[in-house]
Amino acid sequence: MNNNVFRNLSYGVYVVSCVIDGKYTGCTVNSIMQITSSPASIALSVNKDNYTNLCLNKTKKFAVSILSETSNPMTIGTFGFRSGRDCNKFDIIPYTLIDGMPVVKDACSYLICNVTGKTETSTHTVFLADVIDGDILDNNVPMTYSYYHNVIKGKSPKSAPTFIEG
Ligand SMILES: Cc1cc2nc3c(=O)[nH]c(=O)nc-3n(C[C@H](O)[C@H](O)[C@H](O)COP(=O)(O)O)c2cc1C
Repeated sequence: MNNNVFRNLSYGVYVVSCVIDGKYTGCTVNSIMQITSSPASIALSVNKDNYTNLCLNKTKKFAVSILSETSNPMTIGTFGFRSGRDCNKFDIIPYTLIDGMPVVKDACSYLICNVTGKTETSTHTVFLADVIDGDILDNNVPMTYSYYHNVIKGKSPKSAPTFIEG
């Protein structure tokens, strides 16, 4: 199989965040899709080794910060290549609290979600969630995953579902 075929699937770039034991944490994800609009619901795939997986299982509530082409690339790196087990990523990334959840300040939109179910694969949990709130914060162009690769020249770690060796 030509693994590069997966590069032709389209995604955005997001920070999924939550509050656990009074602390804010989260990680970069690309693997979010809308399931349907009524009830408004999404699915996302989170690696079982990620601290965020454990947090979503416990808290069952999270925010999605939808990053734009003008969002600081450092946000993607901080949330995508470090673990909330070892550091507090929100110490260095500006955020605002919406419905008690940390939303990245230069995101162009956000969603607030409640986990309603999940399916386990060998490496990832696919969380299903209802969207209970959401809004557009500015009119900047949402970042696509291909923009992240082709323009920002960003990389994906092994835990990203779309990781391709080499
Ligand atoms: C562009 C990009 C996309 C990513 N997409 C996902 C994803 O969809 N699911 C996932 O589990 N990890 C994804 N990752 C990897 C996690 O963000 C990374 O493993 C992070 O360090 C986990 O942090 P945590 O341990 O605090 O949860 C992605 C990383 C990057 C840079």
